[in-house]
Amino acid sequence: MSEHPANDASSTPASASAGETNPFGGSSATGGPKRVRTRHFQNAKREGIKITGLTSYDMLTARIFDEAGIDFLLVGDSAGNNVFGHETTLPVTIDELIPLTRAVAGAVTRAFVIADMPFGSYENGPEEALHTAVRFMKETGAHAVKLEGGERSQKQIRRIVQAGIPVMGHIGFTPQSEHGLGGHVIQGRGAGVEQLLADAKAVQDAGAFAVVLEMVPADAARQVTELLDIPTISVGAGPHTDGQLLVWTDWAGLTIGRVPKFVKQYADLAGTLSAAAKQWRTDVESGSYPNAEHSYE
Ligand code: KIV
Repeated sequence: MSEHPANDASSTPASASAGETNPFGGSSATGGPKRVRTRHFQNAKREGIKITGLTSYDMLTARIFDEAGIDFLLVGDSAGNNVFGHETTLPVTIDELIPLTRAVAGAVTRAFVIADMPFGSYENGPEEALHTAVRFMKETGAHAVKLEGGERSQKQIRRIVQAGIPVMGHIGFTPQSEHGLGGHVIQGRGAGVEQLLADAKAVQDAGAFAVVLEMVPADAARQVTELLDIPTISVGAGPHTDGQLLVWTDWAGLTIGRVPKFVKQYADLAGTLSAAAKQWRTDVESGSYPNAEHSYE
């Protein structure tokens, strides 16, 4: 497990080498953060530097993504689907997400780690929301929390921010409301853009440091991005936002079955692992594993 730097006063990014671009500070020569902080999100928006995020649910991927210079890692409630095998994110609990978040936060040195607040952990009101956020901050080492909803979650966001905890908002398609929204339906289309803009403003006014826009038309996301001072992060919201986030299992080709249209797959981990497993079975059955190289004298 990597040591967290005691402070980020140094301007040398952990993973940047000479000439490499640092997402939050220009080139490594001009300096970027050793540890990503909320102010670096703000700087990125101001300087027009794109922010990159992935989900992560474990120490191994967190370490790889951190070393690759991914700016933030979201321990999403999509763990409900991708770790626990549920059909939706609704069943996953705080107690299930806490150990995953602790593993991710403990593995990184540079990336900003965000704990996702699951369904049922903040809807009751600001005090419930604060209680949940405090649990994540105390028990995991995460640097911020995320929760879903714009106007409807404004009081919750404000209360958490007042307590000194950074909050990332999440509007547009909000998976915890999947049944209320009638399924995986694109939000902010046509007249729906007015509600999207109102939600975005509500999240910003409550003090969030950034907001995720999920499954909204590219032009609606552009309007939100121009309206807000805080950075917008796209999950299927097109190219005009200040940053991009994908669920790592979709992005790496580990998800079995259909992935959303907006996902670009950067690897075929399912294919690689499947081929390796079949080869392993063949080698064991044939006796070619283990050979002398893999045995003790
Ligand atoms: O849980 C998650 O992975 C998310 C992203 C899709 C934004 O909330």
